[in-house]
Formats: sequence, structure tokens, C-alpha cells
Amino acid sequence: MTRLYDISWEDYQRLSLEEKAPYLMQDEGAPYHTLYAQQFDGPLLGRLALLANEIRAIGKTRVGTEFLRSQVSHKRAMLYFTQPSSRTFLSFKSACQILGVPTGEVRDTSISSEFKGESRDDSVRTFSSYFDMIIMRTPEKGLAEKSAWVLSHSERPIPIINAGSGPDQHPTQALLDIYTLLRSFEKHGGLRNRTVVFCGDLLRGRTVRSLSYLLTNYPGIRMIFVAPDELQILPDVLEMLKRKNIEFACSNNLRAVIPEADAVYMTRIQDEWDKSKGESAKIDTSRFKFGAEELALLSPRAIIMHPLPRRDEISTVVDNDPRAMYWRQMRNGMWIRTALIAMTFGCENRIHDYFRFNF
Ligand code: NCD
Repeated sequence: MTRLYDISWEDYQRLSLEEKAPYLMQDEGAPYHTLYAQQFDGPLLGRLALLANEIRAIGKTRVGTEFLRSQVSHKRAMLYFTQPSSRTFLSFKSACQILGVPTGEVRDTSISSEFKGESRDDSVRTFSSYFDMIIMRTPEKGLAEKSAWVLSHSERPIPIINAGSGPDQHPTQALLDIYTLLRSFEKHGGLRNRTVVFCGDLLRGRTVRSLSYLLTNYPGIRMIFVAPDELQILPDVLEMLKRKNIEFACSNNLRAVIPEADAVYMTRIQDEWDKSKGESAKIDTSRFKFGAEELALLSPRAIIMHPLPRRDEISTVVDNDPRAMYWRQMRNGMWIRTALIAMTFGCENRIHDYFRFNF
């Protein structure tokens, strides 16, 4: 078994994400650190979805809730969120509550010791003195990875979960997106031979980067990337799809591709990354929005997704259409994150046993 402890930072940096992934896993194939989408293959995604389904069934009764709450009550988790967050923060916090994991949090570095000049590495080592897991969202690409490596070389190597690393990756959002797709197509032939349309700011949206990778685990998936030219997906994603022989297309005409879609994944303009003020506002995004006219073009079995928060890229007239999946998608996030934490702390088999005996 390869471990982060066994490799120098320099050698680790030379590896591709696929080569890095095994360093982050436990013996049973469960993730220890969760840093990139590249750690998850089809069987592992299936295992997580099954565990999430069982947890949500168990959680429907009082006695089941109490069982779940006793599972990881001996561990504590740190929520280190130095970038704005509502859903990811609250769903991770709720996931910890479901499993009985007490949490602590830092959300504002202006009131932590980082303000006094403490380095990120020292901050993370400090958290590891008090907690058994760190769930982190940061504006910096690669910080979760660096933290995992630093801790692996300390006397308190604890798991790190990447809850969003700059514009780079958002692996647990991709897990909840896959879980939503699996559930949506469960009774209609499953997640295979589907066309997924991504629309919006694909250049800076990290959720699309992680999800497009995870989708390559399913047969016959076709992806269409719809964005203004200035905000089109980066070539590294397209190169990855080519390498894996996945069919894809880039377009700037949302309406033209909607009839082909099994899922339309809308995203907002990520103008917090603008290099100069007002840069995004100069881009014409008017044709990258989903409203009543787009809804009329969508197949009756297709779904509309969004990682949220939205601005005006999905009109509120869409909200109560049965194909609007973004509210359910959000709740799925809490359950799949609960499953991920349970699996990370080795509770998977106990939960399966409880489910088998009681359902
Ligand atoms: C996304 C993110 O933070 O990348 N939000 C989320 O976690 N649900 C998407 C976004 O901010 O646009």
C-alpha cells in the first residue's frame, strides 16, 4: 500500500492526479484523504451511493437516528472554510451531526492566528492537535493536498476532505452530483448512454471540472460544454476526455443542444475570480440562461441541475417543474457527505449490518 508518508513533496508533485490517487486511499479501497475526483472509480461511487441510501433509510426512525449518532461520536471534525459557503458548510456540519461527530470551525482568518502571520501549514498542524478530521475550503488551489502531505509527515496524520480548492476541484460536490444522477436515472436504465450538458462559467467553475472527470466512469456518457468563448472549459479537461475516448463537444448555443440532453447542469458566472473589476460583466451571457423557453425544449425525462448558489441563470419559473433537481441535489449532498465521512472512519460494514438486520 502506498502512503503519502512514503513520498517526498517534490516526488509527489511530479505525479499525475491518477498516479497520486492511490496515496490517498485506505487498504479497503475507501478514501482516507478526499482531495480530487480522480480518487473515485465506478465501484467506489456505487459503494458510496449504496451507503448513502442506507443511511437515509436508517435516519428515518428515532432509533435509527440514535444508532447513526453513535457511530463516530468518538471523533471530532474541524470545518476550516476560508471561502464563502452555505450549502457545503451546512451539509458537512449536518453530516457530522448525523454521525455524532462534534465540530469546531474557523471561517474567518481575520480572527484566527493566521492574521498574526501564522502559516497555513502551522494552522493546519494546530487544528490536527484538537481534531480527528479537517474539512477545508480555501481559495488556493492545492492547499488541501499540501495540508494532507504536511500532516502525513507529522505526529497527527488525520484525514483531510477538500470542500472546494480555488477554481480547481470540488470533489464532494461531484459526488453529490453523481449521486443525484444515479438516483434520477435509477428506474430508467441507469447512468449510461446519457448526454450531459454543462452551461455557464466553465472556465472558473470547479464543480464542472470535478464532475466531468467522475462521469467518465460511466459507459456511453457524452458531454457538451456550452459557454461564451471567454468562459469555455480549460483544455486539460478536454485532453483528459480525449485520452479516455469520451465523446464531447463545445458549443455556444444552449437552445440548440437542450433537446439532446438527459441532464442540463447550469452554473453561475464566477466573477469573484475576475482579474480586473467588471471583467465578467462585459461578457454577453444572455444566451446561457435557462427559463420557460428552454424548459419547453427539454425532454420529459431529463433533469436540470445546479450546484447553487444561482443568480439569474435559472429562472424561478423552472423551480417547481418536476425536472428541476437542484433542491433535491442539495439534500443529496448531506447524505453522500455523511456516507463519505462514515466510510473514511471505517463504519461502512456496521451500517450495512444494521440495515440488513432492520430493513
Ligand atoms: C459551488 C462552489 O463553491 O464551487 N457551490 C457549492 O459548493 N455548492 C458553486 C458556486 O459557487 O458557484
